[in-house]
Amino acid sequence: MGYMITLRRIRKKDIEEVRNLALKSWRFAYKNIYKEKTIQKMILDYYSDKNFEKEFKDIKKGKAEFIVAIDSNKIVGYAHIAYEKRMWDVIRIYVNPKLLRKGIGSKLISKIEFFLKKKNAKKYTIHPHVKNKIAINFYKKAGFVREPKRDNGWNSPCFIKHL
Ligand SMILES: CC(C)(COP(=O)(O)OP(=O)(O)OC[C@H]1O[C@@H](n2cnc3c(N)ncnc32)[C@H](O)[C@@H]1OP(=O)(O)O)[C@@H](O)C(=O)NCCC(=O)NCCS
Repeated sequence: MGYMITLRRIRKKDIEEVRNLALKSWRFAYKNIYKEKTIQKMILDYYSDKNFEKEFKDIKKGKAEFIVAIDSNKIVGYAHIAYEKRMWDVIRIYVNPKLLRKGIGSKLISKIEFFLKKKNAKKYTIHPHVKNKIAINFYKKAGFVREPKRDNGWNSPCFIKHL
């Protein structure tokens, strides 16, 4: 059985909740990588209303997908994928730090791949922080392999998965 969640596309009313979860998850993922102040600044920037507006437009155009995972009416995780530089790339995948290792991340990946297969995509990439060992383990377990030629600099290695 496992941990039960439902998955659906993000809605405008989810923005604030996603932003709050982003802050918690970033603190967990990057506490030894970025300072608290930097994390707060980056969340305000990356999760700004303006950015969400663009993301909603891209979803409408079929150039992005943003899935939220829900348990008892609460958002417990989310994943955002976008078509950039002629390749589908996971921009974000985050799970509530209190609910790790329950399969939520894997379910988000499955949903993303369902979307990508409908789009006829043959592969997709992800660029975790080089020090984010948990995420890198998770991607390897999910079938990703290193793709050095698509690295975004030394601290942003590329991993690719063939569908
Ligand atoms: C990466 C992340 C999304 C994984 O989500 P999750 O719901 O915990 O993942 P799952 O429960 O589906 O794990 C699937 C498999 O990945 C591997 N894995 C996940 N977390 C791991 C960890 N802490 N250490 C080692 N392997 C891990 C395991 O093989 C796991 O299977 P198992 O539990 O049966 O052994 C989650 O850890 C997270 O939100 N991290 C913080 C945010 C982040 O770094 N996001 C990525 C940004 S690039």
